[in-house]
Amino acid sequence: MQRRPRRNRSSATIRNMVQETHLTVDHLVQPIFLVEGHQVREEISSLPGTFRLSLDEVLKEIEACLQLGLNKFIMFPAVPEANKDKTATYSYHPDNFYLKAAQEIKARFPECCLISDVAMDPYSSDGHDGLVSDGRILNDPTLPILAKMAVAQAEAGFDILGPSDMMDGRVGYIREALDEAGYTDTSIMSYTAKYASAFYGPFRDALDSAPKAGDKKTYQMNPANQREALIEAELDTQEGADFLMVKPALNYLDVISLLKNNFDLPIAAYHVSGECAMLLAACRNGWLNYEQAMPETLLSIHRAGADVIITYFAKDFAKM
Ligand code: PBG
Repeated sequence: MQRRPRRNRSSATIRNMVQETHLTVDHLVQPIFLVEGHQVREEISSLPGTFRLSLDEVLKEIEACLQLGLNKFIMFPAVPEANKDKTATYSYHPDNFYLKAAQEIKARFPECCLISDVAMDPYSSDGHDGLVSDGRILNDPTLPILAKMAVAQAEAGFDILGPSDMMDGRVGYIREALDEAGYTDTSIMSYTAKYASAFYGPFRDALDSAPKAGDKKTYQMNPANQREALIEAELDTQEGADFLMVKPALNYLDVISLLKNNFDLPIAAYHVSGECAMLLAACRNGWLNYEQAMPETLLSIHRAGADVIITYFAKDFAKM
């Protein structure tokens, strides 16, 4: 035999020498669900091990993560139904508990990187990412709402904003609003290829943010499409995005790889709630080994081309 690939696998030392990808906590972002109140720690039943936390608990959580070297967080607000309306006004209200919390977190831990979603759904009485009229999701009238929300988030101290709404033209619109308000250093991590996926279930349970009517298929992408992601990536790049995100991650590794090979911006992937829940369910049933299956899963997302991975397993990975 001329060639024996097994020689390069013959010992741990050799295997490490030829290992092509390495995943570290530097690449990982931990999601946090914030709720109003004090000493609140409510587990999300469809995503065991993930909690809705009040600010005092979040501060403890962030401190624990920082000690593990994990310093990037994406935050989501669980907004009381009474504060939701058709135009998501609470998203930029001066009394918004989420914005105040971000301010306090940045004051306490200036070294941590805080990311925020920009979309109407947690604040919308319709549970949609855009303005709803006669059952239709309006694109252009949604943009000024997103821009107000983005400027309020930048003002609160968020380092990176993630427009997750999939409205056309929103990255450019938000970029212009941020620049006009003087937030030229606030980054945009665009949810570039966000698919109309069945894997967001536990997240919508956490925020009680599921659409009241209809689905998100007129704005989120069709799971059957790959080339369409190139159009979204081209537009987001032109409009000034700093990162391009693919979401979900595991069922869309081909899309991650496609964007990585065709664009120069850093690629992020969102390992979403349903994907994490699926793995947890198998591990809790004794069907898979968490310590092995979880890092292998995250590594596969990185290997496909994601520089940044948002995952509910970030803290566990950091511990390991
Ligand atoms: C809101 C948003 C969603 C997720 C992140 N931002 C849900 C949705 O679009 O319905 C899902 C994340 C997850 O499932 O972990 N626009």
